[in-house]
Amino acid sequence: MSKKNNKIFVCSKCGAQSLKWSGRCLECESWGSLEEKILGDEGRELEVESAHLINLSELNFSEGKRLKTNISELDRVLGGGFIPGSLLLFSGDPGIGKSTMLAQIAETISNQEKKVYYLSGEESASQVKNRLERLNCDFKKIGFLNENDVEKVAQRLREDRPDLVIIDSIQTVYSSLFPGEAGSLNQIRASTVKFLELAKKYNIIICLVGHITKDGQIAGPKTLEHIVDTVIYLENSKQGDYRVLRAVKNRFGSINEIGIFEMTGNGFKEIKNPSSVFLEEEIGNQTGSVISCIMEGTRPFLLEIQALVTKTFFGYPQRKTSGYDLNRLQVLSSVLTKKGGINLSNQDVIINVVGGIKINDTGLDLALCLSIISSILNIKINRKLIVLGELGLGGEIRSVSKIKERLLEAEKLGFKEAIIPNIKINSKKLKLIKVRNLEDLLKEIKKGTELL
Ligand code: TYD
Ligand code: MG
Repeated sequence: MSKKNNKIFVCSKCGAQSLKWSGRCLECESWGSLEEKILGDEGRELEVESAHLINLSELNFSEGKRLKTNISELDRVLGGGFIPGSLLLFSGDPGIGKSTMLAQIAETISNQEKKVYYLSGEESASQVKNRLERLNCDFKKIGFLNENDVEKVAQRLREDRPDLVIIDSIQTVYSSLFPGEAGSLNQIRASTVKFLELAKKYNIIICLVGHITKDGQIAGPKTLEHIVDTVIYLENSKQGDYRVLRAVKNRFGSINEIGIFEMTGNGFKEIKNPSSVFLEEEIGNQTGSVISCIMEGTRPFLLEIQALVTKTFFGYPQRKTSGYDLNRLQVLSSVLTKKGGINLSNQDVIINVVGGIKINDTGLDLALCLSIISSILNIKINRKLIVLGELGLGGEIRSVSKIKERLLEAEKLGFKEAIIPNIKINSKKLKLIKVRNLEDLLKEIKKGTELL
């Protein structure tokens, strides 16, 4: 290769290569993602030290080594606490409470006689102090760094070997060894790789805050999510000031767990019993409203489904949902029409999952059907009744996963009755109404006494 041509440009998003630089990648059309790469003589054998072999049986790793935050909602999402030497990414919309959450984590860990450093590239020391005061945090043990140069931070970490480091945020730090300004793709990647190296080498837990773009993606190269061990999102639940913490990637735990917090005047408070928050007692019976239970990871979660069925006045019947899968509603409407004798072909159906939760659980099929029936027939369903079951295309009602746990949760919250599939299961406190198909369900409604 001639000397002149030993330079190419590689897109950091899609990996496309080109000989000329351009502002926009011709393949994936992302802006500013082309980076210069010098082609070396890759084929040459270098004289280097050979890689070390590690005998895995000599390593002693035990689950007991997790560092618990003692914020149980968070510990559950993490899979039981922080693993020393792990790199985590906390992401979420601006103002959602990332800095608040991490400040609270910094406090609880520093109170366990651990060394905690908090780096803020976005706020000044006095702003951070202000927040910690507002949170009633004991911040004397937290070391504060107001430094944006990753190399200087790295040197400090090498010298001090803290247990936990919080970087707020990865978009505001830069490495002086790499070109580009803080927040550029190059810099974000280089800084993250540096923190990964520090985390693994010195067994430091490093939490990075990552900004989110307009369309909800973590700002920066996609590889960021591959580099880190755990990606955690903090989201808004539309109801009240609740925040949902969710792991979308976790090398050390399940990704199905969620944690629920309430944002108060002085920081986050845990919501240990979400079912009671999302079910409002005072509202009373209304037609079209049915209570069911979903599983979020290992935790059952009671919620309310509402249906509003009205006659179609113009054109095709409308189907609208909020928090529920529209396709599933279409399927259930057809089954109800064909197998349940509930004619929805000239009815508009609107479904709402109360509390702004998004669900994707076929265990709610039966509850949805009952809410539609309740709305169309104008009958009220008892609020002490929980409905569980999956609906097959033949109108048959099938079992749902973890039904025992779901029923136990309902028992705990003082429910009296449950409509469930016809399976072998008993309950001490709940009166179980077992239905095999839609016909059975409609018969129960006609009997009326229990449900109304
Ligand atoms: P912040 O943690 O700064 O959000 P992020 O780092 O994700 O941008 O929190 C921002 C919001 O939280 C802000 O609007 C004020 C509110 N807040 C409270 O309601 N209570 C509190 O105790 C704190 C510290 C913040
Ligand atoms: Mg912040």
